[in-house]
Amino acid sequence: MRKWLVVAAASALAFTACKKSETVKSSPSATIGAEQIIEASNDGWLSYGRTYDEQRHSPLTQVNTDNVSQLGLAWSFDLNSSRGIEATPIINNGIMYVTSTFNVVYALDARTGEELWSYEPEIDMVQASNACCDLVNRGVAIWGDKVFTATIDGRLVALNAKTGSVIWEKLTIDKSKPYTITGAPRVIKGKVIIGNGGAELGVRGYISAYDAKTGHMDWRFYTVPGNPEDGFENDTMAMAAETWNGEWWTAGGGGTAWDAMAYDPDLDLLYFGVGNGSPWNQSIRSPEGGDNLFLSSMVAVRPDTGEYVWHYQTTPGETWDYTATQHLILADLEINGETRKVIMQAPKNGFFYVIDRESGKFISAKNFVDVNWATHIDQETGRPVEIEAARYYDKEPYLQLPGPLGAHNWHPMSFSPDTGLVYIPAQEAPWVYGNRADYKHIPGTWNTGTDFTIALLPSDRATFKALKSMVKGRLLAWDPVKQEAAWSFEHNGPWNGGILSTAGNLVFQGTGDAHFAAYNAKTGDQLWKFFSQSGIVAAPVTYELDEEQYVAVASGYGGSYVLGYGGVMPSGSDFNSGRVLVFKLGADSQLPAPEAEHIPEFDLPDPVDISAEALTKGHQAYANSCVVCHGDHAFASGLVPNLQYSGITRDPDLWQEVVRDGMLAENGMPKFSDVYDTDTVEAIRAYVISEARKGRDQTFYNTIDD
Ligand code: HEC
Repeated sequence: MRKWLVVAAASALAFTACKKSETVKSSPSATIGAEQIIEASNDGWLSYGRTYDEQRHSPLTQVNTDNVSQLGLAWSFDLNSSRGIEATPIINNGIMYVTSTFNVVYALDARTGEELWSYEPEIDMVQASNACCDLVNRGVAIWGDKVFTATIDGRLVALNAKTGSVIWEKLTIDKSKPYTITGAPRVIKGKVIIGNGGAELGVRGYISAYDAKTGHMDWRFYTVPGNPEDGFENDTMAMAAETWNGEWWTAGGGGTAWDAMAYDPDLDLLYFGVGNGSPWNQSIRSPEGGDNLFLSSMVAVRPDTGEYVWHYQTTPGETWDYTATQHLILADLEINGETRKVIMQAPKNGFFYVIDRESGKFISAKNFVDVNWATHIDQETGRPVEIEAARYYDKEPYLQLPGPLGAHNWHPMSFSPDTGLVYIPAQEAPWVYGNRADYKHIPGTWNTGTDFTIALLPSDRATFKALKSMVKGRLLAWDPVKQEAAWSFEHNGPWNGGILSTAGNLVFQGTGDAHFAAYNAKTGDQLWKFFSQSGIVAAPVTYELDEEQYVAVASGYGGSYVLGYGGVMPSGSDFNSGRVLVFKLGADSQLPAPEAEHIPEFDLPDPVDISAEALTKGHQAYANSCVVCHGDHAFASGLVPNLQYSGITRDPDLWQEVVRDGMLAENGMPKFSDVYDTDTVEAIRAYVISEARKGRDQTFYNTIDD
């Protein structure tokens, strides 16, 4: 295991060596194909969203509203990580496949948690440190007799489901560009489909299909046009290019397809969600405006060829990091007396969309949280009616809801055909958007074109407190036909877990404040709650073996919100250890006691003798290049070192070696020599020390509400 996992794990369990059981007890995986995924027998969870429609709803009823209070821990498994765990476990033939940090894949006995095998890819940490939002992974896919994992450094790997040995491996990216992969592959008609991320740093998005047997790439669909001089790949790109201007290709354009997919076998359409523009700021990306297809869109293509069929764009001319990569759910809904085949999404922009999945035609949309960038979605055109002040680039900075963390992020929703409700892990996290006048594209850093210094929480206590009180999170039950809330359950803060619903009239969700709970799906009453020690962002699954229903979820808090704000807005649990937690009725296993809270040594460093101007430069560089990992006010949550407590700030030379020269690059701390000169790196040190000296220690943040 790499050093920094342990370093960062100030409060995590010491990791245990990988163990392998002597014999693989379960029989080899039954061969998985489309039929199995569509039929979705109750003893497994065969695909990321359970079925191709990605409803994440199980027909199992053994655990239900009457007996859920008797749910207890059956077993837990240590994933050897103190970073965010976003994986959906995949279960087939009594074996659970789950991924941890660095794409370590574990095969476990789904009844007992006994480890059958593990696979550890050698991750290229320099490529991996391009990851915008933590070293996360959402899980594997299975097909035939293979398990597929897509690695953070851009590879797609096929493993033998029985042994974990590598069958084939393909590099899916150009490693000279800051691509990373966090998503779970899907397998459709023998093709493994995978996209990637990187639009914060500057890439051109695409999604590709690989032959499950051989690893041969069958097709690739680009989500934004490239340089017209190079010729367009197809007519679709020529069509998309009409909605762009300027030299958008120089920074890639963005539009990465880093998460959601769904498939309709009857219509034979593969759907996927497309991300934000690169840079975010449209006045830089496409100066004369335009819709900039296919940013922030749902796109439908033929799974055999990647041929374009339709698109619906949620945020034309996107300029706020409003991705439409969020969970896509297919369902048949009765709307105005007619059964409609719909696709549903709650993207970052705060509106809930119901779209005809055959044609891509707009049916309805309504905001599911407070928003102040658009008044509504026009029923005729299906386009948002924007509030003028929101296009910040030629105006004053604007305090906006939602911000780039989204009204809903990647955390999966669920749809219950029993209640007709969509369950959304919704949140309110405002952000100040402002133009970055001195913008220039710097490879290897975040290139958003927005001013991150004003987006950080202010230093004065009153404004800090006011802004903090605007940050909220809830479990929201949404009626997609009426486009209104049925009920909601308010959590302690934003950034909570994905969702599972069941025919037992239950909804399951974990929270950032380290609980896993069950709710009545019709009323929202909380019926059961378990203290999980670590925060939860992943989505639960359920399966039945030997007539016993299991409910499983991975714990391990992390992701962009936690990296950026987890220090100044703690979730309520200092302990963070990746684990699989599996529950069944009547079980009463206990989690090992968490280690005592780690209180870092904190003797205040001397201030750096530096001009006010240089200090501002240090602040800007920190905001643009460090905040996304080391946190607001240089006060990290503990996933990466908290620089306010780092002894390295006291040693200017060592600071240069770490920050400028890349001394810790192999551990995921990027090298900044191509980005900043020695003076700027020193100015960042001065800024970090000034933050540490402001006395904003943990007590300050934790008692801000007093
Ligand atoms: C992609 C995430 C990421 C970004 C961006 C990032 N860091 Fe780091 N940083 C890390 C990680 C991970 C470590 C821990 C490395 C280890 O364990 O050896 C680290 C470690 C450090 C350390 C060593 C701290 C200690 O006490 O061990 C310093 C200093 C540091 N970073 C400064 C910076 C500065 C300054 C910036 C911006 C110019 C920055 N980092 C940007 C991820 C990041």
